[in-house]
Amino acid sequence: MQKFVIKGGIPIEGEIQLRGAKNSALPIMAASLLCSGETILENCPRLTDIFVACRILTHLGCSCTLNQHTVSIIANNLINNEIPEDLMQEMRSSIIFLGAVLGRTGACQVSYPGGCELGPRPIDLHLDALRRMGAEIIQSEGRLLCSAPKGIHGATVHLKFPSVGATENILLAAVLAKGRTVIYNAAREPEICDLASFLRSCGAKIAGEGESTIVIDGVKSLKGCNYRIMPDRIAGITYLSAAAITGGKIKLNGTNGAQIENVISLLEQAGCRIYHMDNALYIYAPKRLLSISGIKTMPHPGFPTDAQAIFMALMTCAKGVSVFEENIFENRYRHVDALLKMGANIYVSGRIAVVEGVQQLSGANINATDLRGGAAMVLAGLAACGHTEIKQISHIDRGYESIETVLSDVGADIVRKEEYN
Ligand code: UD1
Repeated sequence: MQKFVIKGGIPIEGEIQLRGAKNSALPIMAASLLCSGETILENCPRLTDIFVACRILTHLGCSCTLNQHTVSIIANNLINNEIPEDLMQEMRSSIIFLGAVLGRTGACQVSYPGGCELGPRPIDLHLDALRRMGAEIIQSEGRLLCSAPKGIHGATVHLKFPSVGATENILLAAVLAKGRTVIYNAAREPEICDLASFLRSCGAKIAGEGESTIVIDGVKSLKGCNYRIMPDRIAGITYLSAAAITGGKIKLNGTNGAQIENVISLLEQAGCRIYHMDNALYIYAPKRLLSISGIKTMPHPGFPTDAQAIFMALMTCAKGVSVFEENIFENRYRHVDALLKMGANIYVSGRIAVVEGVQQLSGANINATDLRGGAAMVLAGLAACGHTEIKQISHIDRGYESIETVLSDVGADIVRKEEYN
């Protein structure tokens, strides 16, 4: 078990290179199952979830090698269409393999992903859509036994919520299905566009990604290709926020500012100056941030739920009162207790959180509760006076590749230690 020890109060300054997005790499790795020949994915982050996805692919019979930030996958000879429960439980988003395995083999066995640290994680929208596409799904002893005796076929699917995972699973099942699939109220997140763009490079026929209606015409086969995973917009927001909370300035290389426009405008409201040049964003933060009156999480292009905890950390020491409304997940304020322990002034009622900025946070011993909540605690630690120790950092490692190295390279005092130290 490891922990982070942070000595706060140092403005960060320098350059950060952004890596590829985990939430884009995972469905694209699943999509490689649908391709003949070799798929080479560049700019893959080296994260535990990516290692789990490699293990799932290997279990299914693929050759999957990870060399630095490049993953090579050959899925010519599958030997399995079931994913064991232990691998399913290691990563909630393993459910994304369901559509791909079904699309490739016409049958699949997975276990129910169950609840997680953000609250219940239902997959009813995934299953309803796959049923419409010809899948028969039986639930038995926590396992989902899926088969498509007559093959997977195109269908019209109206999602009652624009679920990212459900949209991805439908895309994965539809690209090799017989006929046309139309997804209404599809998720519009940039990671959906990246998946569609990868599939199109392999020969799929997809139109409308990034909009609410996606049309997919099934093709007979797909061929692996070389593809570069898009930059991680949430990691990008985290590092911009690290500059914002410490009164620092950084150049963030490898970003796509258009994907985080709404977040950039909030950082500007908070008093930061941000410039976009070529593939980089420059942020200059004021000594003290200003509060932001209303931050409501919404499906893309709204404010991302994955940035809610991070912005809450910023607002804990901003001048004034900020109000948050979490509309995507039921249980996404678990970072609040740690922030309170650091001296923040936060009141939570249901999906609303009211944050009254304090002059200064103070270091404390805290536990990371989940991936983005843990990142928020790192940011709070960078701004606090004194030392902060964060335990259970495996949550943070799921989404940030060596966050301590990235931050210490721009001047932060953060080290990873074994917990017994
Ligand atoms: C993905 C992201 C996650 C992000 C989330 C919302 C990955 C690996 N994870 O998660 O980081 O926070 O999008 O942007 O890409 N829901 C249902 N039934 C379903 C599916 C979802 O009720 O069948 C509900 C969920 O409980 C949740 C909401 O819809 O309240 C959003 O979930 P969804 O968009 O599916 O998120 P994920 O794909 O799990």
